[in-house]
Amino acid sequence: MARAVTVLGLESSCDDTAAAVVRGVPGHTVGEILASEVWGQDGLHAEFGGVVPEIAARAHAERLDVVAMRAMEAAGVGLNDMDAIAVTAGPGLIGGVMSGVMFAKGLSAGSGLPLYGINHLAGHVLTPRLVEDVAYPYLMLLVSGGHCQFLAVEGPDRFRRMGGTIDDAPGEAFDKIARLLGLAQPGGPAVEAEAKSGDGARFGFPRPLLDRPGCDLSFSGLKTAVRRARDALVEEKGGITRADRADICAGFQGAVVDVLAKKTARALDAFAETHGPRVLAVAGGVAANAAIRGALQEIAAAKGFGWSAPPLRLCTDNGAMIAWAAVERMAVSGPDDLTLAARPRWPLDTEAVPMLGSGKRGAKA
Ligand code: KG4
Ligand code: ZN
Repeated sequence: MARAVTVLGLESSCDDTAAAVVRGVPGHTVGEILASEVWGQDGLHAEFGGVVPEIAARAHAERLDVVAMRAMEAAGVGLNDMDAIAVTAGPGLIGGVMSGVMFAKGLSAGSGLPLYGINHLAGHVLTPRLVEDVAYPYLMLLVSGGHCQFLAVEGPDRFRRMGGTIDDAPGEAFDKIARLLGLAQPGGPAVEAEAKSGDGARFGFPRPLLDRPGCDLSFSGLKTAVRRARDALVEEKGGITRADRADICAGFQGAVVDVLAKKTARALDAFAETHGPRVLAVAGGVAANAAIRGALQEIAAAKGFGWSAPPLRLCTDNGAMIAWAAVERMAVSGPDDLTLAARPRWPLDTEAVPMLGSGKRGAKA
């Protein structure tokens, strides 16, 4: 059996500066998270209504060393105990990714430790194996504020993109709807809470792309329909009531649940054609939504698939997933050298047709 390795993982591709120390055995599932520190930047960007790349990059540059030190202290280890340094090398906001890559290169050059440049999406997608014995291949639905895609995960560096959003990510839509209705950010939890008391059938919002075969998704038409419904109410009555707001949230969330559930059913069928029923894994902030999670879990069970949903703190951006992706990669390939580049775009499946557009949280890759 391969020996256990200890890896320092660094993440700075969006608005969380994160570091973690993870121990694991390359080629084997289930690692041990010795420490994981996340320093969020919500307060820095709040007044701008979105992540400001320059502010994010500067904050990452200022905080990476602090967060890395905190993680090692919390784990009770030092650089000497590490076997490698892993860093997000893309995709994401380029300034933040560069801050991380530069810092990691410095650490690697200074300590002599091997350097692994990790694809941020691979970090999310491999997380189920960090916490559970999920064997390759499995189907992953990555659904967050910046991403929405179905991937057949066939190995640590073998990903087949089966479909994804052609415009917005669902989390982005949740956030925009919340802003439209005067609810708090991030919008997902606020909209979910409102939806509980709403009448989901009142507005009859559209289910984009359901009539099209395949598992691509779209959320921008739905967002527009919600805006129109709100504007019509404002015009008619001069404003919206609490009940209107709850009904809009319930209608919007119901449409997202419907679209995700139906497209997931198709992705499961397509996956099963090649691999048979295996495991459906979900990751990303939107997977925290109880209605969405429940619907996906039900469909997975109905299609004979197992279910894996890492705990939320590992679904949102963190350093442990980056360290773990390096442990996984060690089973199949070697480290990078100091020519490692920061990449704003970096699709996991290099053979898939590239997606257009770029969300406020960075490239959709
Ligand atoms: O994965 P994540 O923390 O960050 C990235 O996007 O990378 O996802 C954040 C997104 C936000 O858009 C947030 O509104 C959404 O996930 N979200 C939710 C819920 N909790 C978080 N969306 C729907 N329902 C929720 N309960
Ligand atoms: Zn992420």
